[in-house]
Amino acid sequence: MKLDGRTVVITGAAGGIGRALALRCAAAGARVAATDIQADRLTLVGDELGAGHLAMPCDVTDERALDSLVTQVESELGAVDVFFANAGVAIGEDPIDTPDEVWDLAFGVNVRAHILAARRLLPGWLERGEGYFVATASAAGLVTQIGSAPYAVTKHAAVAFAEWLSVTYGDQGIRVSCLCPMGVRTAMSHGDELAHRVVRSAGELLEPEEVAEIVVRGVDSERFLILPHPEVLTFFQRKAMDYDRWLAGMRRLQSGQS
Ligand SMILES: NC(=O)c1ccc[n+]([C@@H]2O[C@H](COP(=O)([O-])OP(=O)(O)OC[C@H]3O[C@@H](n4cnc5c(N)ncnc54)[C@H](O)[C@@H]3O)[C@@H](O)[C@H]2O)c1
Repeated sequence: MKLDGRTVVITGAAGGIGRALALRCAAAGARVAATDIQADRLTLVGDELGAGHLAMPCDVTDERALDSLVTQVESELGAVDVFFANAGVAIGEDPIDTPDEVWDLAFGVNVRAHILAARRLLPGWLERGEGYFVATASAAGLVTQIGSAPYAVTKHAAVAFAEWLSVTYGDQGIRVSCLCPMGVRTAMSHGDELAHRVVRSAGELLEPEEVAEIVVRGVDSERFLILPHPEVLTFFQRKAMDYDRWLAGMRRLQSGQS
C-alpha cells in the first residue's frame, strides 16, 4: 500500500522506532496520528510532525482510551487506513522471579493492545473492504529471547495474532505485516540493565530511521514478514529445519553470555 494520502495511527510513537516511523510516514505523504503513554515526549514528536497531523497520548491497554483515540482520528484525519501496533515493553526475566503484574503488563502492551485495536478497527475495515494492520513484534517472536520469558512469549503471541488476522481476513482486503527486528538503537536498547541485556543479545544495532525505511518499503510491497535484519530469516529457517539442534545452539549462545 502506498502511504501517500492515507491516514495512519502509530502507537509507541514518543521515541525510537515509533517516532521514526511517524516522521517517515509523514514524509511519504500520510496523515499521521502519533500516540504514546508518555505525553511529554509525544508533544515533541507532535512538534516535529507539524500541521496536518495529530499527537495524542493514549494507554493502548485501555480499551476506552483506544476507542476515543480512533474516533478522534476518524473525525479529524479521516478513516484509519493503517494501524501500526508498535508500542511495546521489554520486561521480566525468569518465571521464578517475574511477578504476575509484570507478565500482565507484558501481555497487555505487547499482545492485548493489538487485539483491542483489531477489535475496534476490523468492522469498519471489513465494511470498506480495506485496512492494514502492522504489528511490531520482534525477532524474539520468531526465534525466542535469551533472558526474558515474558518478552519471548508475548512477542510470539504478537506474531501468532498477526498471522491469524492475515489468514482469517486476508481475502477480505485486510493486509497484515509483522515487523520482527533484532537490536535497534532506542530507549529499549539503552534502558535498564535487563532491557539492555535483552537487546544486547540481538546482534548489530540498527538505527530507528533505518528500520522505519524498511517498514515503509515492506508496507509498500505488502509483505507479511518485515525483517530489518535479514539474518533472522536464516535463524527462523534453521529453527524450523531442526528444532533440537536450534535449541542446543541457543543454549550455547546463552551460556556464552552468562
Ligand atoms: N529496540 C529494539 O532492539 C527492538 C527489537 C525488536 C523489537 N522491538 C519492538 O519495537 C517496538 C518499539 O520499541 P522501541 O525499540 O522503539 O523502544 P521504545 O521504548 O523507544 O518505544 C516503545 C514505546 O512504547 C510506549 N509504550 C509502552 N507502553 C505503552 C502503553 N501502555 N501505551 C502506549 N504506549 C506505550 C513507550 O512509552 C515507548 O515510547 C516495541 O514493540 C519493541 O518491543 C524493539
